[in-house]
Amino acid sequence: MKVLGALALVGCILPHFVFAQDSTNTVQAATQDCLNSKDVPVYWMSSPEYSELAEPFNLRLEYKPLVIVVPTTAKHVQDAVSCAAQCGVKVQPRGGGHSYASYSSGGKDGSMVINLEELHEVKLDTATGIAKVGGGVRLGNMAQKIYDQGKRALPHGTCPGVGIGGHATHGGYGYTSRTWGYALDTIVAVDVVLADGSLVKASFDENADIFWALRGAADSFGIILNFYLKTEPAPDSLTFFQFGWDNIAVPGSTKDTFTNTFLHFQDFATNASVVDDRIAFGVNLMYDDHFTLSGTFFGSAAEFNQAIKPELLRGVPTPTVINTVRDMEWIPYLILFGGADDITEPETGYDEHDDFFAKSITVPESDGLSKAALDSFYDYISAGDAPSSYFVIVNLYGGPGSAIATKDTDFAAYRERDSLWVFQNYGERANANPGIVPWINGMNDAVINAQPNTEFGAYLNYVDPSYSAQEAHRLYYGHELYARLLAFKKKYDPKNVFWNPQAIGA
Ligand SMILES: Cc1cc2nc3c(=O)[nH]c(=O)nc-3n(C[C@H](O)[C@H](O)[C@H](O)COP(=O)(O)OP(=O)(O)OC[C@H]3O[C@@H](n4cnc5c(N)ncnc54)[C@H](O)[C@@H]3O)c2cc1C
Ligand SMILES: *[C@@H]1O[C@H](CO)[C@@H](O)[C@H](O)[C@H]1NC(C)=O
Repeated sequence: MKVLGALALVGCILPHFVFAQDSTNTVQAATQDCLNSKDVPVYWMSSPEYSELAEPFNLRLEYKPLVIVVPTTAKHVQDAVSCAAQCGVKVQPRGGGHSYASYSSGGKDGSMVINLEELHEVKLDTATGIAKVGGGVRLGNMAQKIYDQGKRALPHGTCPGVGIGGHATHGGYGYTSRTWGYALDTIVAVDVVLADGSLVKASFDENADIFWALRGAADSFGIILNFYLKTEPAPDSLTFFQFGWDNIAVPGSTKDTFTNTFLHFQDFATNASVVDDRIAFGVNLMYDDHFTLSGTFFGSAAEFNQAIKPELLRGVPTPTVINTVRDMEWIPYLILFGGADDITEPETGYDEHDDFFAKSITVPESDGLSKAALDSFYDYISAGDAPSSYFVIVNLYGGPGSAIATKDTDFAAYRERDSLWVFQNYGERANANPGIVPWINGMNDAVINAQPNTEFGAYLNYVDPSYSAQEAHRLYYGHELYARLLAFKKKYDPKNVFWNPQAIGA
């Protein structure tokens, strides 16, 4: 007993030969001793709560964390990170848990997951318009609370269950982003726990290099406990528009109709005499029969109908199934895009899931999409041999006036600034139909191979586990930015405490 007591006291710094005997059990025991000695709230595999806490949003990729920490204080996070660093355990925080690759479950078995769901406070400072948002807050709750506390708004994605933690640190696009920028662009400061267990404030003036790296690669650099976000006044009203065609459906239309319609939208999107920072939209394709275009206009429906709609739909087939242009108030607008009765989500114990494989293509504004690429895409999906259902969303990021394009990699460690379009190709029911994975990969290839001189990339928030670390680094960051991030990683996290299969330094 004496010997065990002594071991517990030294925590993780065990003599090397002990690891050699049974490293897994020893790492677990040592981590356990360390966390227990500091009273960190934890769940082990033997805990009844473990299996539900371990479930990622994407049930295609389930990992078994060594331990799940559910901190209620900053000190808990600091202690947990210190223990993990001492014991050689990899760490990933979990914000909303919506990582497409389940990186917030570690991205492999045996990691420490720090689930931030108890850090869910949202507090708007009405004098400055800055909202303090806990690292485990979900987008819907954030939007509702900043509106309730002072009629403020932020740009972000449409799904209310997504967490600010992963979303704002890896981009964060919504139909307000051409007007207000990415969610990432609204971050003015953070409280963050670093790999050495220290808690620091980082902003443009304080720990500016860490602040830079977190905005684009937080998963590799720290655990953000609080975000300070610069909000906008919520518009009194804005216009929602949606048009739907069953005769441009795939399959069921001709290739010319499909490609020419898309090319017209591309001409429109790059036409500075009609497009400015007040408009954003995306094209959606469903595997069965819909082709829709949906978006947002920061102006009245009357102005949209008079000045924009005629140009947007000029020369394309008349919409057959949906033809909606509507003035909307801010919260009802968010609810409409969120797809449920409200945008409020459970603060703890969120339990929604999907099982899917998704990937992205970012299309440089300098090139756009060629007729050949669109034809090839049409041929691929109209062959009709998809092993499961899927959808495709092609969102407009660029074009005249886009706020996304007003910043660069000096502003933040984030490169996705010069894309015209970003594709999301999303295959559903992947557990029952694993063939959807190669099929979705083929969808990307169909576009990319038909336009060989374009340097396509990928969008970090649609993180794609099918890439090697090296490919991922090239597609998400490019060589120059990645080299800068790698140098920082060696400085701030030399032991790769913050790790997932595509992290900086992986
Ligand atoms: C249904 C659905 C709809 C979506 N819609 C959109 C959309 O409209 N627009 C868009 O841009 N994206 C969208 N996404 C993608 C989404 O933005 C990303 O999956 C995002 O990274 C999820 O953030 P999270 O906190 O929920 O995920 P998590 O899985 O918790 O985190 C993702 C990564 O960020 C890290 N991380 C999380 N919290 C923190 C923190 N506090 N500090 C440091 N690192 C942290 C995690 O360790 C992990 O590596 C959608 C995803 C889904 C599943
Ligand atoms: C751009 O929009 C203007 C105004 O509607 C229109 O006259 C012009 O033809 C458009 N240009 C292109 C290239 O489509």
